[in-house]
Amino acid sequence: MSNKTVTLTDNATGKTAEFPVREGTHGSPAIDIRSLPPETGYFTYDPGFASTASCSSDIAFINGDEGTLLYRGYPIEQLAEQSSFLEVSYLLLHGELPRKNELEAFEDSITNHTMVNESLKNFFHGFHYDAHPMAMLTGVVGSLSAFYHDTIDIHDPDNRMLSAHRIIAKMPTIAALAFKHIMGEPFVYPQNRLSYCGNLLNMLFARPTEEFQINPVAERALDQLLILHADHEQNASTSTVRLAGSTGTNPFAAISSGCAALWGPAHGGANEAVLNMLHEVGDVKNVPRYIEKAKDKNDPFRLMGFGHRVYKNYDPRATVIRKTCHDVLDELGMGDDPQLELAMRLEEIALADDYFVERKLYPNVDFYSGIIYRALGIPSEFFTVLFALGRTPGWIAQWMEMISDSEQRIGRPRQIYTGASKRNYMPLHRRG
Ligand code: CMC
Repeated sequence: MSNKTVTLTDNATGKTAEFPVREGTHGSPAIDIRSLPPETGYFTYDPGFASTASCSSDIAFINGDEGTLLYRGYPIEQLAEQSSFLEVSYLLLHGELPRKNELEAFEDSITNHTMVNESLKNFFHGFHYDAHPMAMLTGVVGSLSAFYHDTIDIHDPDNRMLSAHRIIAKMPTIAALAFKHIMGEPFVYPQNRLSYCGNLLNMLFARPTEEFQINPVAERALDQLLILHADHEQNASTSTVRLAGSTGTNPFAAISSGCAALWGPAHGGANEAVLNMLHEVGDVKNVPRYIEKAKDKNDPFRLMGFGHRVYKNYDPRATVIRKTCHDVLDELGMGDDPQLELAMRLEEIALADDYFVERKLYPNVDFYSGIIYRALGIPSEFFTVLFALGRTPGWIAQWMEMISDSEQRIGRPRQIYTGASKRNYMPLHRRG
């Protein structure tokens, strides 16, 4: 807590009120306005909470101007290049990197929680064959609470950690069940001998009729993408998990609400939008026309996967994943795929074009993740599911942090009421 204060003056009455300032390790300080309503009679108005810190958090930090993203203090580039998704999950949950034996125990626990109850599999038979995978994921993740209701005492730290392990372990299995249901193929059980991402690839693509070979480049690319998506401060889905969790609901219900928030096109759907855009552009010969459309203020078309609300110089996740994207395309021999060729041409032209350079509109993480997923043979409506899978350790770490934060209260924003003044009910026969 800093000693600084901010004094606000009500110009109408001349009354003043002093508020403490809270400072974190990095980032802008915040005025602690919890005593504002009782002291002044005012609330604050902040749609989208863009000027409001809803909590204190030790987990992630973004500096948009510098293009940095830290998980527990570690730069995302270092984690993406040197760590693994499970090690990063441990880091997010526990706050420190694990020692060798701690990592082994964590990996072992996750591996041994990947199976889902057989009756949970039956839920998928009730979904329509063309159900959106996020609809299935959201519903089935919420339903996990029906299987583990005896171990979801949110006030017990061991129960909380057990739920965290279960959800991180079961997300790939549930995601793959949804995938196989859409494909009309038999479900594939998790295999304990495989890595987290090797297992995911196997559950997605293995068929009973032939041996499935896991490509190590694909396995590593997927692992890296999950690391890059593992946390991103108080974004919409994480805030949703915290808000739902603040009511004391169980962790599976809270994570399910995070999935629902992530599903929206303004959040997790951007990489799907990149693929839709590539489909619209259609051919490399149309790229210059679409670049002109993107620059035309009278045309609503924008280059999907370019620009970022927070990262104004570059998206540090994109820098890492750009190289991996090119490695994946080379490894899989996909350089000739027309849609991927189109994507690479767009990247090349936009990076050299003054309009994009001056506005610092670099390709963001979603541009490359969409291309990698497409190269791996993952359909675009499934991209958000993989985003959810990657974000799960972040969601659950933020939920755990919230539960143990003594300052946290049930989330309950206020409003400025602009509706009708109090009036009397008019019986139907007298309404004219
Ligand atoms: N294509 C063409 N022009 C663009 C684009 C684009 N993708 N993005 C921004 N601009 C222009 C915009 O027209 C404006 O020009 P001017 O200054 O001449 O008026 C300038 O660049 C600044 O744009 P802005 O809309 O003020 O920037 P913003 O911070 O409000 O928007 C954004 C950020 C991500 C919404 C936007 O860049 C965009 O719509 N990008 C495409 C969609 C996309 O890829 N979204 C995923 C973001 S990553 C999600 C995540 O991290 O989870």
